[in-house]
Amino acid sequence: MPHTPAVARTLPSLHRAIDKLRARKARVALVPTMGALHEGHLTLVRQAKRRCDKVIVSIFVNPTQFAPHEDFSTYPRTWKADIAKLAAERVDLVWNPDVKTMYPDGFASRISCEGPAVADLEDRFRPHFFSGVATVVGKLFVQCRPDIAVFGQKDYQQLRVVTRMARDLDLGVKVIGITTVRETDGLAMSSRNVYLSPDERRVAPTLYRTMKACAKKIRAGDDLVTAMTEGAALISGAGFALDYFEARHAETLAPVASLADGPIRLLVAAKIGTTRLIDNIGV
Ligand code: PAJ
Repeated sequence: MPHTPAVARTLPSLHRAIDKLRARKARVALVPTMGALHEGHLTLVRQAKRRCDKVIVSIFVNPTQFAPHEDFSTYPRTWKADIAKLAAERVDLVWNPDVKTMYPDGFASRISCEGPAVADLEDRFRPHFFSGVATVVGKLFVQCRPDIAVFGQKDYQQLRVVTRMARDLDLGVKVIGITTVRETDGLAMSSRNVYLSPDERRVAPTLYRTMKACAKKIRAGDDLVTAMTEGAALISGAGFALDYFEARHAETLAPVASLADGPIRLLVAAKIGTTRLIDNIGV
């Protein structure tokens, strides 16, 4: 029988609910999300459940990580379906603050990150994104005081930024990264996939297919730069406007020139029509 999770919308009610969860020294996991939940998010929840006694999921569409031209106002909001999915996973608590609770009048502080946050990947195209993410994730960690927090490798640079920040600021939260969950044709699940037209949806798996082919060539000892240049041409040829297709060090995100500089991660961001997709894989 699914049981509906408790929902907290104010800080006092969150803290009361967490005190209850923490009774008898339970270990608590947090899964931060912006809602519009799919199997990728639910996999994070299941992994959180495996590692901890209690699971909190936050649902908050964070305005500070969207640029003015981005999709904050139209971002899919599917509260009822989200709660039904979280009930089926037996999540203990949903933290769903409104914007004023997260950012009260006069709010004037931001966490500014360097290292993986200035790797010239997402940060080149979304200059304020990681300070928005770091600030809200920092607040979520302090508000929920979890033992662990579970993030997806789907947003690989975000995972590296949050991992670094939690360590640097002694937040006392262990960040766990979970393998990307994909549709059967390889497309990484994303809340934004609903924006794709049928034609765009057919072309979208090109990103994963191309990354896989490139990773295979690089592993086999082919020249990395040649493999990446050919891969970029394939992606553009399929109809994408490519933002980047890069081979980077999996930890630091520094550029790499050959297999010897690894472990290597391939990262891609490209627009198909008006929808921007990102993906990545390990070599
Ligand atoms: P959102 O896009 O809702 O993603 C929430 C979490 O789900 C992130 O850790 C993301 O990497 C993970 N995720 C998304 N798609 C996935 C997939 N196909 N497989 C595995 N994990 C997947 O990322 C955010 O929200 C926000 O930036 C947030 C961290 C909540 C801060 O506002």
